[in-house]
Amino acid sequence: MLLRSFAETDRAAVVALWCEVGLTRSWNDPGKDIDRAVATWPDLFLVAEDAAASGDDDGEGGGSAVVVGTALCGYDGHRGWIYYLAVAPTHQGRGIGRALIAEAESRLEALGCPKAMLMVRRGNEKAHGFYGGSGYAEDEVVTFGKRLIAD
Ligand SMILES: CC(C)(COP(=O)(O)OP(=O)(O)OC[C@H]1O[C@@H](n2cnc3c(N)ncnc32)[C@H](O)[C@@H]1OP(=O)(O)O)[C@@H](O)C(=O)NCCC(=O)NCCS
Repeated sequence: MLLRSFAETDRAAVVALWCEVGLTRSWNDPGKDIDRAVATWPDLFLVAEDAAASGDDDGEGGGSAVVVGTALCGYDGHRGWIYYLAVAPTHQGRGIGRALIAEAESRLEALGCPKAMLMVRRGNEKAHGFYGGSGYAEDEVVTFGKRLIAD
């Protein structure tokens, strides 16, 4: 399993993965989300690749990438945010989610980011359990949002 930054050739597989695990919403165009991420923090957009399935056991590239996980992150100068954490159902429970979070935290910390944040939709109990076990605690805040650009 290889963790690396997103490459343009991953785009279709990434969108398919997000759809498969139920992270897409009608009001978010995943393609535009990818464009915005690549335009701001390309090195904070992580992909987990099944190197064996890609025919890339040596991690040197050359095979066609089989994307099995993602984490899309950003740093706003105060907090680091982790979005679109996803692992393919066929690969869940193997530590890939944990590895993606660890790599995201490491890259954020290298930028001087003091705290990683994430939002979990109400009712996503599996994610609540996962984050709780990954050292994340629920903050006493309610997030408010205001759409500035309609997708
Ligand atoms: C949440 C998700 C990313 C976890 O990925 P994963 O690769 O299956 O997780 P891991 O295998 O790395 O599990 C890491 C740890 O979390 C634990 N864990 C996983 N699900 C859990 C749950 N429901 N409750 C408690 N712990 C859980 C595992 O037991 C493991 O602990 P361990 O290392 O002590 O054994 C994955 O389930 C997923 O893609 N879900 C759908 C998309 C989603 O909801 N994303 C979150 C958006 S906020």
